[in-house]
Amino acid sequence: MRLPLLQTPPTRRLPMDRHGRAIGYLRLSLTRACHLRCMYCRPALDANPASNELTADEFESIARHLVDQYGVRKIRLTGGDPSARKDLLNIIERLAAIPGVDDLAMTTHGLSLAANARAYAEAGLRRVNVSLDSLDRATFAVMTGADALWRVLEGIDLAAGTFGGRVKINTVVVKDHNLHHLPDLLRYAADRGVEIRFIELMPMGPLAEAWEGRFVPESEMRGALDAAVDRWTAYPASADSARRYIATLRDGREANVGFITPMSCNFCSNCDRLRIASDGSVYPCLMDRPAGNVLRAVRPGFNAGMFDRLLLAGYDAKQAEHPHDGYATMTHIGG
Ligand code: 5AD
Repeated sequence: MRLPLLQTPPTRRLPMDRHGRAIGYLRLSLTRACHLRCMYCRPALDANPASNELTADEFESIARHLVDQYGVRKIRLTGGDPSARKDLLNIIERLAAIPGVDDLAMTTHGLSLAANARAYAEAGLRRVNVSLDSLDRATFAVMTGADALWRVLEGIDLAAGTFGGRVKINTVVVKDHNLHHLPDLLRYAADRGVEIRFIELMPMGPLAEAWEGRFVPESEMRGALDAAVDRWTAYPASADSARRYIATLRDGREANVGFITPMSCNFCSNCDRLRIASDGSVYPCLMDRPAGNVLRAVRPGFNAGMFDRLLLAGYDAKQAEHPHDGYATMTHIGG
């Protein structure tokens, strides 16, 4: 299929995929490296090969071009974990300084937040999503491979002090591990005034085999949460990937709660996301195989024409809905 040509403003038409979706939201996976080994994300045999990654300069060129020419307005930094990059602050500064970037966010395990949340904010980061699967030390250690709960909790407090309501907690729900910890997590989020999002487990890469026995649908999550919740009030549907509610707790407090239900494809039709990984791979969808690689157009110098050709070949492979099983290992592509 031929893609609409880029024209100059004001009549410029943004490139769209064959289903009429433009790119608004860029997710950059800064590195494959991560300090944790979450059971649903990073397989036991995955090493930390952080070699030959795109540089800060190269990420900036890519982002600038996508903002100027494709209409990207929102950027999220993922990984691995972004904090495994020694030049993370520099990357944040460069991306935040691009005119037209309305929102710069990061998804992280939170281990670096106690030390760095303020520096991230000063560099221009606007929001953070922190993974937190349990408040029970032993469960946290089993699910993440690290006895580091206290450090993440310290980090969330620092982040909440710095970013306020622009902090969210991500909890991946796994049967026989943390389903019964959800009420505690919800009360914890309510205490801090941060939104919590419960995420349905996705079958990713080699971890897909264990998926069926571990998957918990939204209805069961809600059932477990009813121990703490008196009333659910749904927010009107939006383009957000989460179905959002105000949960009125049994003690009268309120908390914002989201359910992310990727397995039911309920946000594919609005998907405006493009993912570029640290090796230059272009992922048209979190669950799909990479469709090409832009590294040749970025190194040794940025070549806009070649970038457009390589990128659009990949973006046009974006399907109407995601495949059932994720091709990629989550820790390489970044949720
Ligand atoms: N299923 C659902 N969510 C996942 N994440 C990582 N792996 C999976 C999976 N298999 C989540 C992380 C993080 C976000 C980037 O993606 O918990 O919050």
